[in-house]
Amino acid sequence: MEAVLATYQSTDTSAVTTWFKACTVKSIPENGGACVKYKDKQIAIFNFVRKNVWYACQNLCPHKMEMVLSRGMIGDADGIAKVACPLHKKTFSLESGENLNGDLPAIATYPIKIEDGFVYLGFSE
Ligand code: FES
Repeated sequence: MEAVLATYQSTDTSAVTTWFKACTVKSIPENGGACVKYKDKQIAIFNFVRKNVWYACQNLCPHKMEMVLSRGMIGDADGIAKVACPLHKKTFSLESGENLNGDLPAIATYPIKIEDGFVYLGFSE
């Protein structure tokens, strides 16, 4: 599973070469998440209505290598948007990917944009 984890690398907006049309805005619950597939990756998308910001990150939780983060609770830690894994409540920044309550590897985060009612994810591959 380490090899799978390594396929997820944070992407900076300036490095984006592909904007992938992932889904409609309406298919993502408000203040919740859903998972989409891009190539061999599962990407969690969150519509953080309380902050009026969208986030995307790997769906894979690095704790027990479970594809579950899209079902996690989102919240705020001192102004940083975060997601808590639904299994054992490890929390990750949705901005930097950092594990906020432990020393797990950071999760990968991805650029996201909304256009004409659709959600686009940015990839550099
Ligand atoms: S699998 Fe995510 S916290 Fe354990």
